[in-house]
Amino acid sequence: MRVAILGSGQVGQALAAGWTAHGHDVVIGTRQAAVEDFAVAPPAEAVRDADLVVLAVRGTAAVELVRSLAGELDGRVLVDATNPLDMGDRGPALFVGTTDSLGEQVQRAAPAARVVKAYNTVGNALMVDPDLPGGPPTMFLAGDDPDAKRQVGDLLQATGWDVADLGGIEASRWLEAMCMAWVAYGARTGTWGHAFKLLR
Ligand SMILES: NC(=O)c1ccc[n+]([C@@H]2O[C@H](COP(=O)([O-])OP(=O)(O)OC[C@H]3O[C@@H](n4cnc5c(N)ncnc54)[C@H](OP(=O)(O)O)[C@@H]3O)[C@@H](O)[C@H]2O)c1
Repeated sequence: MRVAILGSGQVGQALAAGWTAHGHDVVIGTRQAAVEDFAVAPPAEAVRDADLVVLAVRGTAAVELVRSLAGELDGRVLVDATNPLDMGDRGPALFVGTTDSLGEQVQRAAPAARVVKAYNTVGNALMVDPDLPGGPPTMFLAGDDPDAKRQVGDLLQATGWDVADLGGIEASRWLEAMCMAWVAYGARTGTWGHAFKLLR
């Protein structure tokens, strides 16, 4: 599968390395001229022939970037891994929530893209092939397009994840809040190797 990852930060590089090891053809869409070890291209060029696009930029930059690429994203599966983090003086908080979400804002910015919220509830080190004593953790998904969610779910299952679909893109409100629970546990314990698991 040809994958374009928007953002060359920790998440972009972790996904690029992990999926390349699984045999996927990955390019990072970035403002940077080069990123060691990875193929890069300007964002509009990177997404052009992609089977799957991942949004992995800072939350405050997500909507503007997606809006600038909207035509290129028409019909494409767009995995939104971002969180609307506001790094204020009193610790991280969400800059949108409860009655709206960054996932919904991203979908509105590119109405013809098939947005799937995923990968935002776990640290980048566990995103591909998580190996935890409690077995495969659960990745929660949200999105309006069942086929897009199936495609992302297949990728997740092939890379070590159990999958739980929470429904339409508006469920991003709860996935983005879950990020805060993940961060709060890490900050309290000083450990960052945890992930959620849905028992059923
Ligand atoms: N770190 C984690 O473990 C983790 C886990 C789950 C979700 N997330 C979420 O995933 C996203 C990326 O996190 P990260 O840790 O990879 O962040 P990071 O290492 O700080 O990298 C930030 C990325 O944002 C991009 N960016 C910053 N300002 C931009 C702008 N004005 N326009 C376009 N792109 C801009 C940069 O893209 P360039 O390549 O163009 O420089 C860079 O790749 C965030 O929304 C974060 O909340 C992070």
